[in-house]
Amino acid sequence: MTSDAVSVVGLGKVGVTLVAALTTAGYRVTGVDVVEAQVKALNDGSFRTNEPGVMEGLARLKPGQFLATIDPAEAVHRSSLSFIIVPTPSNTLGGFSNRLIIEALRAIGKAAAKKTGPHVVAVVSTVLPKSSSAQLIPALEEAAGRRMGDHLGFCYNPSFIAQGDVMKGLITPEYVLIGESDPQSGAAVEAVHRRMVTNDAPAVRVTPIEAEITKIASNTHETMRVAFANMLLALCNEVPDADVDRITHALAYRLGRRFFKGAVPYGGPCWPRDNRALAAFMDLVGVPSTLPNAIDRANSDHGHYVLRQVLDAVPRGGTVGVIGLAYKPGTSMIDRSFGIDLADWLSAEGRFVVGWDPMANEEARRALNGRIRIAEKPEDCLKCNAAVIALPLQQLTGMDWSQAASTVVIDCWRALDEAKRCKVGRYMPLGIQRDLKSRVITTPGYRERFDHLTN
Ligand SMILES: NC(=O)c1ccc[n+]([C@@H]2O[C@H](COP(=O)([O-])OP(=O)(O)OC[C@H]3O[C@@H](n4cnc5c(N)ncnc54)[C@H](O)[C@@H]3O)[C@@H](O)[C@H]2O)c1
Repeated sequence: MTSDAVSVVGLGKVGVTLVAALTTAGYRVTGVDVVEAQVKALNDGSFRTNEPGVMEGLARLKPGQFLATIDPAEAVHRSSLSFIIVPTPSNTLGGFSNRLIIEALRAIGKAAAKKTGPHVVAVVSTVLPKSSSAQLIPALEEAAGRRMGDHLGFCYNPSFIAQGDVMKGLITPEYVLIGESDPQSGAAVEAVHRRMVTNDAPAVRVTPIEAEITKIASNTHETMRVAFANMLLALCNEVPDADVDRITHALAYRLGRRFFKGAVPYGGPCWPRDNRALAAFMDLVGVPSTLPNAIDRANSDHGHYVLRQVLDAVPRGGTVGVIGLAYKPGTSMIDRSFGIDLADWLSAEGRFVVGWDPMANEEARRALNGRIRIAEKPEDCLKCNAAVIALPLQQLTGMDWSQAASTVVIDCWRALDEAKRCKVGRYMPLGIQRDLKSRVITTPGYRERFDHLTN
């Protein structure tokens, strides 16, 4: 075993990508998973994934460079550093279960106890702050029969990655975050990243709890930006002569461009749960959790605001096409997806829904269980009373928009260009009030209340 040998425990979406990134950087990697079929597929070359860069990385493997196993002890003996990237499912109280990490740590600790050389563990999975010191480090120490610093090390080393971009997040991160139990362990984890990253990302070395808070606070900040841009979208949707994109474009000079497009509520497997977990932890330590809770509430209210725009455009008994059912383009995942919520709400409100997504049709069919019709081709969504663009999909470009000649197209992303806008029956870009006839604010009592506010 050399320092070129690392192991990855948990060969799911992130773990397999980490394997591909590490082997591309020249490491010999042992991967561990509890699912035998996954281990077998990785060893016999039948494993497949859509995650960009992974299949290419695995195709470059040199003989003997990678082995998958169900035995964590084998992985510990073949390596000096183990990354743990197992699921941390949300629980009903807003926290994350550490159960699977602790299981993996115990197995690693037991195997490390039989080694003479040092072993460092880097936990990548998202955890609630305080997890490392309260549960993870004690579980590792107990199983190994050693304390931190005595041939044993621990780091909390979360990645800032997104589905569909996991490889990019691993090899060209903005920074590498390492919450270290001791400087040697931090240095060992930093050395691996230095070799794996292809940019000059700095390493930020902090305590484990600082890294834990940084990780989920980063997601809360991102959700706050999305919710803020969505607030502006709704505002611009109600007042004449305002275009949300022109406002966010201007604001971005001071506030930055990322996650700053007014559109639909955020979803996915990370943002909603991480933001709620920060609120739950703040409640636990007696700190006002107003901000993360307000973001969550604003996100949910925004979904209902967009729903009202669609309900206003289509009477009960009418048909609505929903284009985009995944939680974002480029994935089949529908966790907390707005397209799915919208389809479900519309069908509960007596509208017939036809949905389409380039990757998530099967997932949507299962989740909505017959409540909407899944279309074979996107144009089927255009032959409805209204069609909602719920995701800014690449496929919008190749669609035949003349099929929407008598359809109201509600474009949550302002994704259609002028040529396509001209072809549709009525174009409703959310966040821009364009209809010249309605260039007045119609809220009841608006005129008098405006005078009070400006008196
Ligand atoms: N997917 C993302 O984009 C993303 C982004 C940021 C953070 N995360 C975090 O990363 C973690 C893992 O995410 P994922 O998307 O890769 O999950 P995943 O469900 O795709 O994969 C997890 C893998 O771990 C395996 N596993 C479970 N228990 C195990 C054990 N005791 N030993 C070995 N393997 C075990 C599972 O069989 C599975 O293959 C989660 O905490 C998640 O919050 C994920």
